Amino acid sequence: MKKIITYGTFDLFHKGHYNMLKRAKEYGDYLVVGVTGENYDVGRGKLNVYDSLATRIENVQKTGFADEIIVEEYLGQKIGDIIKYDIDSFVIGDDWVGKFDHLSKYCNMVYLERTKGISSTQIREETFNQYDIGIVCDFVDDNQIVKEAKLVNGFEVKNVYSDDNRILDAFKEKYDVKNTFEDYDAMIESSDIIYVHCDINERFNYIYRALKAGKHVLYDPPISFSSEKLKKLIELSKQKNVIFMENNKMVHIYVFNQLLWMTQGGLIGDILSFNCSISKNDITRSNLFYDLSVVALLPMIKIMGENYEHFDFQVSKEGDNIEFASMNFVYGKGRAIINVGNNVRVDNQIEIIGTKGTIRMKDDWWRSKSFELHTPGSNDVQLFNTNFEGNGFKYLIREMSRMLSNNRVDSKSIFEEESLKIAEILEHIRKQRYNYD
Ligand code: CTP
Repeated sequence: MKKIITYGTFDLFHKGHYNMLKRAKEYGDYLVVGVTGENYDVGRGKLNVYDSLATRIENVQKTGFADEIIVEEYLGQKIGDIIKYDIDSFVIGDDWVGKFDHLSKYCNMVYLERTKGISSTQIREETFNQYDIGIVCDFVDDNQIVKEAKLVNGFEVKNVYSDDNRILDAFKEKYDVKNTFEDYDAMIESSDIIYVHCDINERFNYIYRALKAGKHVLYDPPISFSSEKLKKLIELSKQKNVIFMENNKMVHIYVFNQLLWMTQGGLIGDILSFNCSISKNDITRSNLFYDLSVVALLPMIKIMGENYEHFDFQVSKEGDNIEFASMNFVYGKGRAIINVGNNVRVDNQIEIIGTKGTIRMKDDWWRSKSFELHTPGSNDVQLFNTNFEGNGFKYLIREMSRMLSNNRVDSKSIFEEESLKIAEILEHIRKQRYNYD
């Protein structure tokens, strides 16, 4: 019996897929079809798959050509499959010519001509709502949103606004964004979503105007030094029924959700200590301290909660900029220390000590692919990891896309009270620094 294998995502099942399966089946007696699993697709950055795995399998099944359907769950699975299923020929479309030649050691490689004029990508482009993103910036940096937005169906950064012409020109050239605007209202008008990516002193104003115009807003937190202003914007976004979402990518990353599950589900026992450090060297960005603090405070608030009993801090500063701050939070059962350095080097890491285990996330933990679990009395270190590329923005945009298609404006990744608590902490630090109430 001649056994054949073929693989594909088979999203939005079309004639090209049907033809390929038909011809693959005709090539032998028994056809195994590998359908890509959701985690595998996400891991390799393919976030635009529309149909669920169950639907894609069902569509392959309905053709009647597959004798067996398997799920392709990880990179490098193909060699094991060829051996396991005793495959004679590997059949795939000629868009892959040459890419799988190394498999010819194991079986016969057959590249078949693709059906012309159709692909899942083309169907997706024709089917989905288009959301144009406009970005407000005061320096030539897109935070990778331009590239990452393209990976999610229907999203594209098309517009950019800056009150500085040189920044506009440089941004357009660097990121190849279609339209530049010197008039902010005109950009609001031409965009569905506004991403506010500028200095903290300017954020409130830009966000307010975009929300007022009924546009969805994505913003770098904190929005200002005032928690009252944040409340005002939350109110306005509710009134207008639009998404008002902060750019904190960590909460959208798989390992962070695994970590949350383990800490909140009691898997490392009672938490005795939460220690988190972050530092960057960027003297060109004013108020960087506040931007970094939000990133470090969010995991604390998520894991330890909002109800600490006591909070104090120490800052050392150089001129107008805070260079280093150590924040100390006392909770009922444990403690949290957050160290933030701006031009003061501290090793970036999160360490969570529980009665039944310790978790460590090292280096750039806010976009980490892994964390370690150490259990008392054992030398073994368990590694929890996942695979992702880029800086995580695409996961945040995908969350936004789900919210839009479900007509939901409140994000479940960061709750309102969590954002407000962080704003209050930073406001407190700011007030003490300038000695005003
Ligand atoms: N295929 C084909 N003809 C097409 C489209 C796909 O023969 N017009 C084949 C591919 O070469 C592959 C299989 O069908 O062997 C599964 O392809 P898949 O990547 O799932 O489909 P695409 O339409 O190419 O998807 P995308 O646009 O997302 O790349």
